[in-house]
Amino acid sequence: MEKITVHASGTYDILIDNGSLSGIGQALQERFKPCTIAILSDDKVFPLYGKTVTDALTAAGFKTVSHVIENGEQSKTLDNVTAFIDCMVRSLVTRTDMVLALGGGVVGDMAGFAAAIYLRGIPYIQVPTTLLAAVDSSVGGKTAVDISAGKNLVGAFHQPALVYLDTDTLNTLDPAVLRDGFAEVIKYGIILDSRLFDIVAVPDSFDLTKVIARCIEIKRDVVEQDEFDKGMRGLLNFGHTFGHAIEKLSAFTITHGSAVACGMVIAAKVARVCGFTDYTDIITKVVKDYGFDTRCPYSADELYSVILSDKKRSGADITLVLPKEIGACTLERMPAGQVLELMKKAGL
Ligand code: GLY
Repeated sequence: MEKITVHASGTYDILIDNGSLSGIGQALQERFKPCTIAILSDDKVFPLYGKTVTDALTAAGFKTVSHVIENGEQSKTLDNVTAFIDCMVRSLVTRTDMVLALGGGVVGDMAGFAAAIYLRGIPYIQVPTTLLAAVDSSVGGKTAVDISAGKNLVGAFHQPALVYLDTDTLNTLDPAVLRDGFAEVIKYGIILDSRLFDIVAVPDSFDLTKVIARCIEIKRDVVEQDEFDKGMRGLLNFGHTFGHAIEKLSAFTITHGSAVACGMVIAAKVARVCGFTDYTDIITKVVKDYGFDTRCPYSADELYSVILSDKKRSGADITLVLPKEIGACTLERMPAGQVLELMKKAGL
């Protein structure tokens, strides 16, 4: 079992292995006192892994209570957080108890947010079961729900007490959901690790568990330097400013990973018109080889209208993440209007 330790406002381990889900009871027993664990999961994941997790926790002396939501982004609401909190109240969950997120990014973000606000904060454990959650959302303590004005607009920083990843759980993923996670994996290579980029450039040619561990190390390093997203954590948004705009314009019919893949290509084109070395062809080839469509269906004006409402805007400025080299991205803060000009110059 691989262990990566994060030193942020809380110190916690990320345990990574394959075929280790039934070992979760022992891992928790070694770290935490017996308590009640409130599990949040969804109706796709819980039937697959709920029993293994609850049996393992019960055998290790923990009491469990489970709350299952419908799978999908539409469930990431304040109402569903309230329902989960109501379940914890009914089950007499106290500050010495814990939340456990069993699922992908939606479940992880919601469970983390519920844990951040219930009784002014209780500990939580992430058990990610999608590639995207494994390499990104389960690590680093960003928790949130969506509101009608936008995705993730209500949230809190709350670091987990443990992340427990059994990479075998990724074997049951729908191929499109697995592919979505690869957009984030490719992103890590482009922003901070050219060797990782070279390794993942050819789909199916590498050990996925090792690649996931490397992505988590990169995220750990970023979070340790900028936990509260005031500076270099922004690098993790490579492809996301344009990607979020694409997702929103498509009314979320284009998935997060597909939108980020397309957003990374747009960022490469914008970098080129900024005078940086042109990596458009290299990035386009890799994301295409994973099956992503790199043609942006929206114009520069359409993208800009959404980018203006991005929550990551600082006053009148927008910070773009642009590749200077593969493995070295830069944060470029500029007036919002310049982003529109650059997109137009880049041919969007
Ligand atoms: N997903 C981006 C971050 O954790 O900062």
